[in-house]
Amino acid sequence: MSEKHYAVAVDGPSGAGKSTLAKAVARELRIMYVDTGAIYRVIGVAAQRRGIDPGDEAAVVSLLPELEIGLRHGEDGLQRMYLNGEDVTDTIRLPEVSMYASAVSALPPVRAYLLEMQRKFAREQSVIMDGRDIGTVVLPDAAVKIFLTASAEVRAKRRCLEQEQRGTPKPYDEVLAEIEQRDYNDSHRAIAPLKRAEDAALVDTSDLDFEQSKALILKTIRERVDA
Ligand code: DC
Repeated sequence: MSEKHYAVAVDGPSGAGKSTLAKAVARELRIMYVDTGAIYRVIGVAAQRRGIDPGDEAAVVSLLPELEIGLRHGEDGLQRMYLNGEDVTDTIRLPEVSMYASAVSALPPVRAYLLEMQRKFAREQSVIMDGRDIGTVVLPDAAVKIFLTASAEVRAKRRCLEQEQRGTPKPYDEVLAEIEQRDYNDSHRAIAPLKRAEDAALVDTSDLDFEQSKALILKTIRERVDA
């Protein structure tokens, strides 16, 4: 891969700050940001709307051919998601969609279905892509791999603050339990479990603020590519 065209893979558990940080880094480096969790969330919304059990592989698989998943970047650089032409960018962020997304993401045919879509972005331009298996499965040859994490407690506190700001506050204990459950599901599934690639740099943001985390990620990238 030439240094002019490179990929940065960012993996880690939910709530580690992947999307906020990757978005800011993309802006700074003038490369494209791809949030792959948003794609799983669109499938989660589709299953929820049809009243399908998201763990029922046959039912979810039969749904896939009917779905037209759109991913577009607006002029502001933000990623918008579409389901059969409908803008579902806000809907996919509803808390109840998270468990649907986690369940459908554990199904091998769903992952296989989305693999090529994700790889295509990295072939076409420099990207920073975040998810759970970007450095291990989707882009194993990425020039830069980062495993971004923070303690479950710190992530729960951040999520609570976010929910509060959105006007949908939730008790800390409930948020922490949900995060721990999702961590468990995402790292214990049989296919593409969340795990640090051997060659990924570990970035723990438990004791770092946003600017410190961003600076550390930029430094990690610039040590590896001419960005
Ligand atoms: O990052 P997120 O919370 O928006 O992701 C939603 C779900 O999708 C999450 O449970 C993990 C899963 N996911 C995945 O399995 N692989 C990815 N590359 C991205 C997300």
